[in-house]
Amino acid sequence: MGWIILPAAVFLYLRFGYVPVAVNGPVIPLEQMLAGAAIEAKIAREAPTNEGLPATEENLLAGAKIYREQCVECHGLPGGTKSVAAKGMFPDPPQFFERKVMGNDPVGQNYWVVANGIRLTGMPGYKESLSEEQMWQVSQFLSKRGKLPESVERSIH
Ligand code: HEC
Repeated sequence: MGWIILPAAVFLYLRFGYVPVAVNGPVIPLEQMLAGAAIEAKIAREAPTNEGLPATEENLLAGAKIYREQCVECHGLPGGTKSVAAKGMFPDPPQFFERKVMGNDPVGQNYWVVANGIRLTGMPGYKESLSEEQMWQVSQFLSKRGKLPESVERSIH
């Protein structure tokens, strides 16, 4: 009997507008846990384990420039205020210079996210618009923030 009732209940839940779709609606039970676990598993499975490029000053400066051009709107800069768009998103785009624990992943994991994006979150994939080199540069920059050379640090303040 359960095999009829459960799909019917799910159908009614979806069909009659009970699923919270607004960004500030309640979190669906298990939503964040399941979504988070799926994203992590996928990244662990597919992300490259190398660093792509050496973290030279030149590459980090180029990465900082790409970050300023493409990522600031959602992920912010040191001491900056959260943008209008970032305030209104669900899930919340991590403000990388406030929440230093996020995006510190190995470079290859950031690279995977930058290249592919994360579906249904607002995080774009950049492989149609940035070169391989640029995607590695911005991923390096993100992983190394907090221990950036002086010149790179200056370029984001
Ligand atoms: C339009 C908004 C938007 C833009 C622009 C954007 N992001 Fe994101 N990003 C997000 C959101 C939202 C998340 C959170 C996704 C989630 O919770 O699963 C995210 C997550 C990430 C993550 C995963 C963080 C973690 O540890 O879970 C990385 C890495 C990342 N973004 C890097 C970048 C980089 C680099 C750029 C620029 C090239 C960029 N993002 C541009 C919205 C954006």
